[in-house]
Amino acid sequence: MVTEAADLLFTNVRLATMVDGVGDLQDAALAVRGGRIAWLGARRDAPPAAVIHDCGGAWMTPGLVDCHTHIVHAGERGGEWEARLNGASYEDIARAGGGILSTVRATRAAAEDALLHQSLPRIRALLAEGVTTLEIKSGYGLTLLDEAKMLRVARRIGTVLPVNVHTTFLGAHALPPEFAGRADAYIDDLCDRMLPALAAEGLVDAVDAFCERIGFTHAQTARVFAAARRLGLPVKLHAEQLSDQDGAALVAAYGGLSADHLEYLSPAGVAAMARAGTVAVLLPGAYYFLRETCMPPLDALRAAGVPLALATDCNPGTSPLTSLLLAMNLACTLWRMTPLEALRGCTVHAARALGRSDIGTLAPGMRADLALWDVARPSDLAYALGARPCRLVVHGGAPRAPEIDLH
Ligand code: NIG
Ligand code: FE
Repeated sequence: MVTEAADLLFTNVRLATMVDGVGDLQDAALAVRGGRIAWLGARRDAPPAAVIHDCGGAWMTPGLVDCHTHIVHAGERGGEWEARLNGASYEDIARAGGGILSTVRATRAAAEDALLHQSLPRIRALLAEGVTTLEIKSGYGLTLLDEAKMLRVARRIGTVLPVNVHTTFLGAHALPPEFAGRADAYIDDLCDRMLPALAAEGLVDAVDAFCERIGFTHAQTARVFAAARRLGLPVKLHAEQLSDQDGAALVAAYGGLSADHLEYLSPAGVAAMARAGTVAVLLPGAYYFLRETCMPPLDALRAAGVPLALATDCNPGTSPLTSLLLAMNLACTLWRMTPLEALRGCTVHAARALGRSDIGTLAPGMRADLALWDVARPSDLAYALGARPCRLVVHGGAPRAPEIDLH
């Protein structure tokens, strides 16, 4: 029993704490003080509070975490999608100068404010579904100035909207045209000049790369990771998305937060991730949108005890997806993840993929990032396609409506 008064008390609530499975606490209450969860437990034991919110028996989860997005970008690639449906492959389009480089051209051409304003509607869509933490990658600028512009926009999003933003430098996303045929020289520039300058400006929370036939080699990726390590920055990797490049083992060797995509992950990669505690971030939107048929090795990942996170991978080429709830449904329907695995993937395990131990579960001391839902059971979050079941969101202790009006 806590006697000190709380700022805010949610009572008559059913808590999915996500501590040990779903962590169902019925007929419960949750108290917030100073932006943190001060207490949770049986409703009858609740402390006094300045403001009391009766939840009418509704389910509350931690605020959702989208731990892998490329949501800041200019332009769109609907024509490329149509070309793929007419027979071109993602790799063909990239080799012909389209794909990522087409979004690079649009993003370089956009002024910083325009880039922000083009990105905001996508972010509002995520926030309407209870997302309270969002990772945003650079990687469509590929010059120091344009990568800085993207990362500044990402930081600004965290100030103009109620969301915690994690920035990831993805300079090693594609080879910029001015370095054609000189990939090693680009990686030199990235390691020696771009990354240190961006880190010095406080724009980089983590470092990522695209280790792939159409991206960068294992050796080039290792050099990016070594540069990140020199700056004390954590790493993550687009690994084994289109082919097995042994990328998951590489990021695990650097103690990486996560290896992401993983459709072509080998048993050795699974074992390396398990040893290092590297989270598997699975991206069913990209799998679906690319009409991929090779599934990530879910049973092997489960057997090895690798935490499974899910994210939208929101980007204009492989996953123009602005619904984390739909990502949960795709993971369940296409891969037979269970709805509980999917929810853990967007809460506790997604938090871990960002290196955060203060979000993703409901427990005393955690940040009061919460979502209240109109659902009969937590699995319904993954069930109802296109539903908008979020009733209320709490960000750092501050309640808000799910839909955010910017005007
Ligand atoms: O996560 N694979 C590399 N990066 C993105 C795609 C980016 C793009 O096509 O614009 C991904 O799938
Ligand atoms: Fe991605």
